[in-house]
Amino acid sequence: MTQTEPHMSEPLRLGIAGLGTVGVGVVKIVRQKANVLAARTGRPVVITAVSARSRDKDRGVNLSDYAWEDDPVALAKRDDVDVFVELMGGHEGPAKEATEAAIAAGKDVVTANKALLAHHGQALSETAEAAGQVIRFEAAVAGGIPVIKALTEGLAGNDITRVMGVMNGTCNYILTRMQSAGLPYDEVFEEANQLGYLEADPTLDVGGIDAGHKLALLASIAFGTRVDFDAVELEGIQRITIEDIHQAADMGYRIKLLGVSQMTGRGLEQRMSPCLVPDDSPLGQLEGGTNMVVLEGDAVGQIVLRGAGAGEGPTASAVMGDVMDIARGLRIATFGQPSHTLEQAKPAKSATAAPYYLRMELLDKPGALAKIAAVMGEAGISIDRMRQYSHADETAPVLFVTHKTTRDALDHALKGFDATGVLASPPVSIRIEAV
Ligand code: HSE
Repeated sequence: MTQTEPHMSEPLRLGIAGLGTVGVGVVKIVRQKANVLAARTGRPVVITAVSARSRDKDRGVNLSDYAWEDDPVALAKRDDVDVFVELMGGHEGPAKEATEAAIAAGKDVVTANKALLAHHGQALSETAEAAGQVIRFEAAVAGGIPVIKALTEGLAGNDITRVMGVMNGTCNYILTRMQSAGLPYDEVFEEANQLGYLEADPTLDVGGIDAGHKLALLASIAFGTRVDFDAVELEGIQRITIEDIHQAADMGYRIKLLGVSQMTGRGLEQRMSPCLVPDDSPLGQLEGGTNMVVLEGDAVGQIVLRGAGAGEGPTASAVMGDVMDIARGLRIATFGQPSHTLEQAKPAKSATAAPYYLRMELLDKPGALAKIAAVMGEAGISIDRMRQYSHADETAPVLFVTHKTTRDALDHALKGFDATGVLASPPVSIRIEAV
């Protein structure tokens, strides 16, 4: 970690690459709050140059004071830019090239690009730190929630024991809207599309990839490990049905796309998957497009942070938090400790044992339930709760909540169910997370 004195009276000069929602939000804050920013840092914070795909587009902000660059790499190299603010997105191509060019040209970097850092964060931060530059990325994780700051600074005296979060607002919107309106997944997905909530590639949202990037970044800071996105166990929300949402609610749970990371004796666990959480927990109560991050430390206990995970104001707020740190001369290593000291964690091959929700349709004939119960017994899975409901003519829907079990035992049981010949349709299994 390096600590240098800023030139306190000289302006901090920003070059902004990307003038979409977030870029425009940053321009507005810099223009509208110039006095506050200068008062808080002791120096003016100004924009000198901008870059975007289309120069002619009306973005509703006055850009005439700033130099224009068509090429973000040229922007990154400009002599009148101290901080390269990368708000383009994408983990290859221009965003990566321009970030590398900025570091090579001796600039600090502020980025909202989770994919870039999840894939290249280690290499980029090592290069930046070796040259005395910083890369900051508060806006990349959970939008306006200052979670990177909480982990790297406020909780720096803790051993972090677990990090959890609902970090994709679109998925939380879809799941909570399905429940409140009683609508199926496909309909609410289309609604989210109409509202403009989905990324250009919607799989980034509903496939859990966007949230998985965020979890991998938080895990690196929390556990002092190299970002390992490939080791995140990823599952999206596409298979979640309104039936499961209703049944889970009846038993006192909500279904969330939940990220969980913890260091275990078996290695580093990183999971981003649909989970049941108690409906009276803070995570269970989270509605709509809001994000929540839960941090647990040995000294502090549990911290719950909640706020907007996307949008112009919240994301620009996070970008500006990083800019203000740089203006003040606060130079913290990208992942909270020098990147070359981060360890390569062994990924945990299987998740910590947990209870599971199991729903299945059985053929309605004598001995069917007994066969299913026998398979669970053979797999070493103990049943906590069970119920058969809303009887159809030929099939019987059955729900189980198991006691804690391993995923291996559950997979063994799922194969066993198949072999009984009494299943009318494939069973659904969803982990229940203790939050
Ligand atoms: N698509 C993301 C979300 C935006 O829905 O949360 C921020 O990554």
